[in-house]
Amino acid sequence: MTGRILDGKALASEIRAKVAVEAARIAKALGRPPGLAVVMVGENPASESYVRHKARSTIETGMASFEHKLPADTSQAHLLALIARLNADPAVDGLLVQLPLPAGIDSAEVLAAVDPAKDVDGFHPLNVGRLASDMPALVPCTPLGCILLAKKAHASFAGLEAVVLGRSKIVGKPLAQLLLRENATVTIAHSKTRDLPAVCRRADLLCVAIGKAEFVRGSWIKPGATVIDVGINRIVGADGKARFVGDVAFAEAVEVAGAITPVPGGVGPMTIACLLVNTLRAACARAKLPAPTI
Ligand code: GUN
Repeated sequence: MTGRILDGKALASEIRAKVAVEAARIAKALGRPPGLAVVMVGENPASESYVRHKARSTIETGMASFEHKLPADTSQAHLLALIARLNADPAVDGLLVQLPLPAGIDSAEVLAAVDPAKDVDGFHPLNVGRLASDMPALVPCTPLGCILLAKKAHASFAGLEAVVLGRSKIVGKPLAQLLLRENATVTIAHSKTRDLPAVCRRADLLCVAIGKAEFVRGSWIKPGATVIDVGINRIVGADGKARFVGDVAFAEAVEVAGAITPVPGGVGPMTIACLLVNTLRAACARAKLPAPTI
């Protein structure tokens, strides 16, 4: 059997088309386009590529993009002052600080300085707590993307055994909360979990965000399970050429899974699409407009 491919590129493109329609509706009501500000500190090539893609998608969907690139030696005080300015700027509906930040900057303090109403990453402690408390919240984009892709394979998650491999604040923990909210039975596994293959084999829905290239083998997957691979790892093959692979050994896994996300073209494109949706949500909530129907 060969698993169905869950095409994140196609789904992200559908979402962006809906975002463009909603952005136009909101722009008309506000008298200005919804705006997303992205702050980046230092010169991390992966972050630069993400930030470029974010800006391009924001503009293509009819929103305003405000990019702030600061040098690696920026002080904490300078960064906090910029965040305060963007918090107070009425043209900015969404504000995110690209991670990782350079050593010497206290990321927790920076993330807590973002206005929770503009926190389109969902990393502010208030939004983290609201998600955990089943209250309306801005929710991290990558876990949202995982849920939307998994919904292409499951009409409902109620009663499913879901295993989330990885416990990061950005993906694993919020994803587990979202799955729990959708009535799945959720296990969070991680690098210290005993007998990871056996835990993974229990999963009807296996979400992997552990940051290790091709770590999950085909033999770890329950036949017919849905596999959501969050990893993006750059490896150099025997031919000396670089390529990107996920945290799941795709060629093996696709032979066992019922449905699986590819890398690239799975979760990756969904993250930015969900960021655009979060920006619309923030814009509507701030202006007391009806929430977008995406
Ligand atoms: N770095 C890697 N992923 C993310 C993300 O989702 N948001 C931000 N701000 N930085 C990241």
